[in-house]
Amino acid sequence: MIKKSSFGKVWMLAIAATCSLQANAQAGFDTSAKISALIKQLTLEEKVKMIHASSSFTSGGVPRLGIPELVTSDGPHGVRPEHGRDWELDNNSLDSGTYMPVGVCLAATWNPKLGYDFGSVLGSEAAFRGKNVILGPGINIIRGPLNGRNFEYESEDPFLVSKMCVGYIKGVQDQGVSACVKHYLANNQESKRFTINVEMSERALREIYMPGFKAAVQEAGVNTLMSSYNKFRGQWGSHSNYLLEQVLKKEWGFKGLVMSDWNAVHNTAQAYWNGMDLEMGTDLGMLPNPDYSKFFLGDTVVKLIKAGKLPEYLLDEKVRRILYVMFKTGMIDGQVKKGEYNTKAHQQTALKVAEEGIVLLKNDNNLLPLNKNTVKSIAVIGYNADRKQSMGGGSSQVRAFYEITPLAGLKTNGGKVKINYAKGYDIVRGGGADQKLIDEAVAAASKSDVVVFVGGWTHGFRYDVWADNAYDAEDIDKQDMKMPFGQDELLKAVIKANPKTVVVLMGGGAIDMTQWVDKTPAVLQAWYAGLEGGNALAKIIYGDVNPSGKLPMSFPKKLEDNPSYALGEYPGDTAQSLIVHYLDDIYVGYRYYDKFKVEPQFAFGHGLSYTSFDYSNLKMTTAGNTALVSFTVKNTGKVAGSEVAQLYVHQQKSLLPRPEKELKGFQKIVLAPGEEKTVTITLNEDAFKYFNDVKNTWVMDNGNFDILVGGSSRTIKLNGTITL
Ligand code: BGC
Repeated sequence: MIKKSSFGKVWMLAIAATCSLQANAQAGFDTSAKISALIKQLTLEEKVKMIHASSSFTSGGVPRLGIPELVTSDGPHGVRPEHGRDWELDNNSLDSGTYMPVGVCLAATWNPKLGYDFGSVLGSEAAFRGKNVILGPGINIIRGPLNGRNFEYESEDPFLVSKMCVGYIKGVQDQGVSACVKHYLANNQESKRFTINVEMSERALREIYMPGFKAAVQEAGVNTLMSSYNKFRGQWGSHSNYLLEQVLKKEWGFKGLVMSDWNAVHNTAQAYWNGMDLEMGTDLGMLPNPDYSKFFLGDTVVKLIKAGKLPEYLLDEKVRRILYVMFKTGMIDGQVKKGEYNTKAHQQTALKVAEEGIVLLKNDNNLLPLNKNTVKSIAVIGYNADRKQSMGGGSSQVRAFYEITPLAGLKTNGGKVKINYAKGYDIVRGGGADQKLIDEAVAAASKSDVVVFVGGWTHGFRYDVWADNAYDAEDIDKQDMKMPFGQDELLKAVIKANPKTVVVLMGGGAIDMTQWVDKTPAVLQAWYAGLEGGNALAKIIYGDVNPSGKLPMSFPKKLEDNPSYALGEYPGDTAQSLIVHYLDDIYVGYRYYDKFKVEPQFAFGHGLSYTSFDYSNLKMTTAGNTALVSFTVKNTGKVAGSEVAQLYVHQQKSLLPRPEKELKGFQKIVLAPGEEKTVTITLNEDAFKYFNDVKNTWVMDNGNFDILVGGSSRTIKLNGTITL
């Protein structure tokens, strides 16, 4: 449904003075001329009102000229509950929406089409709730396992991030709502996010940390971008001339608006000169009567312009970008889409993403799937089995229309299977194993045919360091990779009582499994899988759905194995310095595990299926510096299934050292039993280049390149060499 914007009429009045009526009536009237005309109508004070917040989630509007406030909302996995204008949660609004699986679960689908569908749901629900900008996707690189916000992000690999975020952004924006890609840049940890200064090589910046943002701008045409809290090479993310002006706007040609993260501007002149278009945040000091004109980009800008200390053309430039987004989305002189809310179709998309994003990590002797006709009883053990996670995480919280927990899913999808539930542990920070709870769990495990243990991390509802549940939450990193709440002891006792134990891990990423992983036959990574997550998990466990998710990040065995820890620095907040040097450089994730020969617990791209796939027939042809690669994938098992075929490139000899392999293509294919398909992947010149930071440019060192094809970064089934 489309509704006519009420602002169109007012705008026509405003512009009449500067444009001829005839021109105005022309169908192809040029937007930039309209914007220029509108800017001329605005007073200095009105323009300044537009470049800072007018409440916690809106920018200033100019009603006289039909310029609305820009209404923003978190977050990346569903439209956040209403906060009124300044933070108080409004309990009377219809704000329980479709809670989508978290970003890392979406990435684990390796299905860009689902990225688009995901974004469409989000855009549609945002439109329904009257939001103009959805504050997502979050696409910071997953550098280490402890980052409290890894669940919101996508991957350790820039290619996978790029492919998944483009679909998401287009999906949101096709619903007439702007996406806001965040947090640009180097916000790879929550610990000290407000103070640290990140230093990294130009090569790491270009090869690892920037490609997702570049794709968001150039391939997806994202309308808005959020700067980060941290400093980058000595300048705050919101004042970084290099990141915002030179790279984003000049080099990449970004036309939309840059907004700050909330309260991330620190200085008027620096923000003003260096590319910040809109200062967002909450005037916390002034609550309950906030005065947003006191923001750095508020009255001070008026004063400095009047005093001749800041140029007005830069203000016009910022206003132009804001108006550009408003015109583009029909907020002015157009039509805003109405959107839909809590539809069956939205819930089905959430289910599909969860079904394709949950990863089967281990399945010895084909313990899974469980046969509902032969398994009589299941002991479901673990707090997470019965815990709703949707309001966790911080700004990405969602008030879910409903949320199917793993326990509920296992019950409703299980037919006659008897479920014996035991909580097993309590969520208490620093809490050890409670013997009474362990005894109950062991009793349930002993009397049941099979155990499904659901534990792992938990989604924090509050995000301070003291909160019991502050794991996978904004503003705080995990302290270590160890299973919290005494789960190791519990799990070992449960496995001893019943070795047929399936371990389901929830969370934003890796957890230390070393104490029990060799003793349990089956492990599933279930992330936080949205409002249908429990159904998706149960369908996989019972074999109604064949798992097809693949890890979008490496799972190290222990924290010390991770490059941010092993090579440093993380978190870098020593007494002497707040600088975090990314000494791991380009060796993030599998690039490190390969190069430094460290065995991960589960490799990047890993994920099992209930069927098996055979790879054959690798063919490669080259033309200039591009290559066409094709190969055949066959389903050699008894059930239908999907495989994510992955293509990695390795350069045999180059001037600067390069990783052992880098993901440069992938395709998810659905195959019936016995069916085979040919996969064709085109590799353009970019797939072979690297950033030479001696020459400060992308280079192609000609020579031999290995083409590696397989079902994960460590199960390469086909390889060949091309010469370019
Ligand atoms: C977060 C952003 C979020 C914003 C608004 C900040 O603290 O870092 O991701 O969009 O708050 O809630």
